[in-house]
Parts: sequence; structure tokens; C-alpha cells
Amino acid sequence: MADPDRVSALPASLTLVGAGKMGGAMLSGWLAGGLDPTRTSVVDPAPAPGIIDLCAGRGIALNPARVPAADALILAIKPQGLDAAATALASLAGPDTLVVSILAGKTIADLKARLPGVRAVVRAMPNLPASIGRGATGAVASPETSPAQRAGADALLRAAGLVEWLDDEALIDALTAVSGSGPAYVFLLAEALAEAGVAAGLPAEMAARLARATVAGAGALLDQDPRDAGQLRRDVTSPSGTTEAALTVLMRPDGLPALMREAVAAAHRRAGELSG
Ligand SMILES: NC(=O)c1ccc[n+]([C@@H]2O[C@H](COP(=O)([O-])OP(=O)(O)OC[C@H]3O[C@@H](n4cnc5c(N)ncnc54)[C@H](OP(=O)(O)O)[C@@H]3O)[C@@H](O)[C@H]2O)c1
Repeated sequence: MADPDRVSALPASLTLVGAGKMGGAMLSGWLAGGLDPTRTSVVDPAPAPGIIDLCAGRGIALNPARVPAADALILAIKPQGLDAAATALASLAGPDTLVVSILAGKTIADLKARLPGVRAVVRAMPNLPASIGRGATGAVASPETSPAQRAGADALLRAAGLVEWLDDEALIDALTAVSGSGPAYVFLLAEALAEAGVAAGLPAEMAARLARATVAGAGALLDQDPRDAGQLRRDVTSPSGTTEAALTVLMRPDGLPALMREAVAAAHRRAGELSG
């Protein structure tokens, strides 16, 4: 059942450009959230069969000969495709259009330069779990974005999970280093735990299953339990027990917290280089 507050905040009409993994997943989320399919257009030169079926089933205009003007233009193509698409995109957006971009590394200034006349631009950085509606997205709006447009962007982005708004666009590089790249850090944790299980004598496939279920289960618990991560960790660590023995290694001065700070700093630096 669609949340009535979110339905009222969603833009009345929108055009999605790029219906790949992320764009397609967001489109499904918006439809589930109450977006009017008859006022939605999708532009994608080679849509996947699932998108063709979704559009046909819900009455969404897919690659119409003339794309109707819409309140919001959502950009979900690859960043490297922006220059080639710019001319076509410019004809889809006017001075009152809200542009929401999830193109990694493309700044609000980059987007405005390619969409002359556009004023309201929301730059968002989702992460991989957004493709299953469980993402963590950072967003920043150009100063010309009205409160209603910002609420519209928030409703659109919330279809992909948590949304955190930033006042300073520069912080998007720090956010990218934490939540944008973060899923890979967690996947590495599952890999390393499985490898350590093999080293401890478990069969490889069993160790991989156990590590996967442990990471997924701990993530689900973190999601459902109101306690923060540190409290959950302390609550499962009995004095002088097995968990404490492992955490003493992981938390030594050159252990996981120090490594994570170094890793996030490296990703932060790289995000700056890529968007600069
Ligand atoms: N996936 C992630 O975890 C993630 C995380 C954060 C941000 N993002 C951002 O999300 C954006 C999309 O990523 P994705 O993983 O969803 O990529 P994707 O699956 O490749 O989707 C991009 C889609 O856009 C289509 N496209 C290309 N040029 C187009 C054009 N000129 N007009 C309309 N559609 C066009 C592509 O078609 P073709 O396949 O035919 O080229 C494809 O269907 C990227 O900018 C990325 O930086 C992704």
C-alpha cells in the first residue's frame, strides 16, 4: 500500500532517462509508492525485457517519439554517457524542471553546464543495495531548488532506501567513501571470514555459506534492532569469551578501525580526483 504522504510529495509527472540496474529498480519503487504511470516516460535506447514488460503493463510511455514536458527529469545513465546525451537531455528540461541525477562524480555545476537554463538540480549518490530498495543515498540540492522540488526528490530517492541530505556538495565525496563504496567493504568482510573459516579447518563451501549468512543476518539484526552497532557488539561479547578473543585482535591499534579510517580516506581522495 502506497504511503499517502510520499504519493503527494512525488512529482506529478516525470521522465526517467536510463532504465538500467539503478533506474529500473527506482522506477519499480516509484510505481509501488504511487507514481502515476500515465504521467511517466522512460527513455532508454535498449531497454531490458523487464522494463519493456513493466512499461507495457503499467501504461508507461517507453521511448515516445516526442517526450512530454515533465516536472522532474531523472538521470540514471552512466556518467561517461552524459556528454553524448546532453543535447537530447537539454530538450527535456526547462527552467522549472527538477533534475535529479545519480551520475557518480558529476557535480551540480557539470549538470547545469550541460542543461542550460535548468536551475533545480539534485545530485544524489545511491549505493548498490538501492537496487533492492535497501540503499543509503546522499543528496544535495542546488540553491534554486524549491522546498516542494526538494520534497519531490526526497520522495523519489526514498524509494531506494535511506536518504541523507547534505548542505555542502563537497561532502558527497566523503559520503561516497562511506556508503557508496561501503557495500564492497562488507562483501570483503564476508570473503575474509570465509577464508578464515577454511584456515580454521571448515570445508570451503560451508565456510562461504556460514560467512554469507552471518554477514546478512548481522546486517538484518542491525537494521531491526534499535541498539547501535557498538552496543550490539558489546552485548554479544562475554568477558573472556571467544568473541572477545577475536575482537582483541580486530581492535588492536593497527586493527580494523584504523584500517577502515585509512580505506575511507583513500576512497575519499579518489572520489575527489574522479569528480574534479
Ligand atoms: N549501480 C550502482 O551501484 C550505482 C551506485 C551509485 C551510483 N550509480 C550511478 O547510477 C547510474 C546508472 O548506473 P547503473 O548501474 O544503473 O547503469 P546501467 O545498468 O548501465 O544503466 C544505464 C542505462 O542507461 C542507458 N543509457 C545509456 N545512454 C543513454 C541515453 N543517452 N539515453 C537514455 N538511456 C541511456 C543504458 O543503455 P545501454 O545499456 O544500452 O547503454 C542503460 O540501460 C550511473 O551514473 C552510476 O554512476 C550506480
